[in-house]
Amino acid sequence: MIDTVRGRLVKKEPLSSDICSFTFESIGSGFTGLEAGSHVDVVLGPELIRNYSVWEWGEGGDYLSVAVKREDDGRGGSIAMHELAVGAEVKLGGPRNNFPIVSDSQPIVLIGGGIGITPIYAMACALQQAGRDFEVYYLVRSHEMAAFDPMFKKLELGDCYHLHCDDTDGFVDFGDLIGAHPAETHYYVCGPEALLEIIRKASADHERGTVFFERFSPVNEERSNPNSAFEVIIHSSQEIIRVMEDQSILSALRDRGYTVDFSCSNGLCGSCITDVLEGEIDHRDSVLDDEERDSGDCMCICVSRAISGRLVLDL
Ligand code: FES
Repeated sequence: MIDTVRGRLVKKEPLSSDICSFTFESIGSGFTGLEAGSHVDVVLGPELIRNYSVWEWGEGGDYLSVAVKREDDGRGGSIAMHELAVGAEVKLGGPRNNFPIVSDSQPIVLIGGGIGITPIYAMACALQQAGRDFEVYYLVRSHEMAAFDPMFKKLELGDCYHLHCDDTDGFVDFGDLIGAHPAETHYYVCGPEALLEIIRKASADHERGTVFFERFSPVNEERSNPNSAFEVIIHSSQEIIRVMEDQSILSALRDRGYTVDFSCSNGLCGSCITDVLEGEIDHRDSVLDDEERDSGDCMCICVSRAISGRLVLDL
């Protein structure tokens, strides 16, 4: 499980027909370590933990706000969130930031599709405060779905803010968009997987390490390696644990009584990232960047597996 602090829902505000903002005040110790791009785990039940990007927070960590789109056909997390009543207490884990602003002096383009705008809005606020050069593209199907448009208007970004509604503006040509910006531009993108895939293809010729993605659903990659059983060795105890074909490393460790951090179990949140001392990793997460994968020294144990027959974990 994850380390958590308790929060009380003090404000629940509809931002559109299906998106609501939830503001939690901390009970006891405050929320610490929040920055643009951070997300928190909201514990909604024993097996119901969801990760949501934080779009605003109090400087002293006394409160934080997330925005959640209700997905009636989803896995239940958004419905549980929308059913929370003001006054409800929940446990909040994190924050973690897999989507930090890492650019130094490069111009920045922020792209948010639908509810993927939540970390993008926090980044826009941080960049504006820092006096940085940036633009925002907010992509929605129609104007009624632009839940964060009023907040962006208040930032008064002028020509640097672009609201794009598919029904009135047509579809964005991301090749043109990227071509219209200087080559050294850094892009930060969050939204549905289809949007990310289009931008990934459009930016394929862009320098590696200059386009950053935040996902809220796992990447659907064709797997050339079928699942097979392998062993993990716990470095501290030298215990050998067999991970079966239909089992994750995380569940194998938990079955053997190990307490390890985890939250989404889907390769999305990064809470289960574990150092690897030996062995070749079959990365299947949506969190680690190319550099981290290439280093071969860490993995998300909830989804990733071994290519070699054995992995030595730094546990
Ligand atoms: S538990 Fe979220 S990435 Fe593994």
